[in-house]
Amino acid sequence: MSDIRTLPGFREFYPEDRAVLGHIFDVWRQACRRYGFREWESPVLEPLELFTEKSGEEIVRQLFNFEDKGGRQVSLRPEMTPSLARMVGARANGMAKPIRWFAIGENYRYEKPQKGRLRAFYQLNADLLGEAGPAADAELIALCADCLLGFGLTQQDFRIRISDRTLWFRYLASLGVPEANATAVLGVVDKLERGAPKDLIEAMTAALAGTACDPEKTLAAARTFAATRSLEELAQLAAGDAAMTARLDEWNHLLGTLKSMGFGECIAIDLTIVRGLAYYTGFVFEAFETGGEARALAGGGRYDALVKKLGGPDLPAVGFGMGDVTLRDLLEAKKLLPAYADGPDFFVMVLGADARAAALEDVANLRRAGFRVEYNLRDGKFGKLAQQAETAGAKYALVYGGEEVAKGVTKVRSLTDRTEAEVPRTDLVPALRAVMEEGMRAILP
Ligand code: HAM
Repeated sequence: MSDIRTLPGFREFYPEDRAVLGHIFDVWRQACRRYGFREWESPVLEPLELFTEKSGEEIVRQLFNFEDKGGRQVSLRPEMTPSLARMVGARANGMAKPIRWFAIGENYRYEKPQKGRLRAFYQLNADLLGEAGPAADAELIALCADCLLGFGLTQQDFRIRISDRTLWFRYLASLGVPEANATAVLGVVDKLERGAPKDLIEAMTAALAGTACDPEKTLAAARTFAATRSLEELAQLAAGDAAMTARLDEWNHLLGTLKSMGFGECIAIDLTIVRGLAYYTGFVFEAFETGGEARALAGGGRYDALVKKLGGPDLPAVGFGMGDVTLRDLLEAKKLLPAYADGPDFFVMVLGADARAAALEDVANLRRAGFRVEYNLRDGKFGKLAQQAETAGAKYALVYGGEEVAKGVTKVRSLTDRTEAEVPRTDLVPALRAVMEEGMRAILP
């Protein structure tokens, strides 16, 4: 065996693992369809500048980029949002609004592989474009919740923590932070939960360089603001600031809509969430396992300026991404992954060369009728073939020996209770449909 391993942070999927992935994709797809979203796809390899200009510093450090043989600077996609913004932008004028789109694809980030973080991971993307009001944000947060509930999780199992970059920017302006420094200050806010006090002061000093703001006071004010957990507290902090107070009406709309839809238990106000990606402009959110230390299950928010930046019209947008890695860990821990069952419906046991032609004719007919059918490619004795049928995971064996073929029948054998019954070959398809639905009693005498 050669010793060439997979690259760090990349996974191989043996069929039983791939089946889990397939289940995750199915639940995501069903949830998105229930919300009227349509599926799209884009190239995994893109011009490097699509990401260097649009995704923000953190992701740019993690790009899998290289020069292709034609001398182009290219990168594997670390996320799908810039591609989506470009695609929608190119045709937006002819499209009915709002646009509801989803995609499921593999993304690549050169991160340090660790629990919940890999270099290649699958991600669901759901995005709604063409609606600027909070009804659109509510729709996406609801879909994010339903994507998780679709696996059998409950609203107690996860929290969608909602925050607001608009409110943050206005609050920072009220502290005298110039607009040009606000994004850098939010970068410090992003680290409030994890950062050591000394590092935070240092980072805040750098973020406020050239301004008249005091780093320690700004940091303390940011901490107070980030600790807000209710609309009442927010209203107090916003008192006297007309723009902030007006923004709270949108918060009321957002939270009210989500409560009416029945998602009151899984959402929470949490202003520590600011999101690392540069393009977010308004409400932002992240979903986490309740009480766990694990990394985010999903993250998203509003990005009203991105489509225009990529050459399209001025089109408001909101969306989220949900990864397969942390989700799978959570579903495993909660025992919510379905048992793996991928065997055929029927294993056809061909006993002897004389029976082969008749057996293969029926194999082909059954497959055309939609059944999953395997048969022994090589001749073998009854005992060995019965063993083969069980190993394949079949529910039933269909026995074709010289005797059965001469009588024009197939012997159906249950591999669970070993009962047997003969069916005329001319009736095989309807008889086996009945067996699949009702079990052996459909054909037992
Ligand atoms: P993001 O927060 O970078 O957002 O990623 C969203 C989710 O993808 C994360 O919460 C996590 O579940 C998963 N994820 C991200 N990086 C990794 C990794 N290295 N390994 C495993 N899972 C990972 C975005 O990507 C935005 N483009 C989402 C979006 C769509 N915003 C608007 N529309």
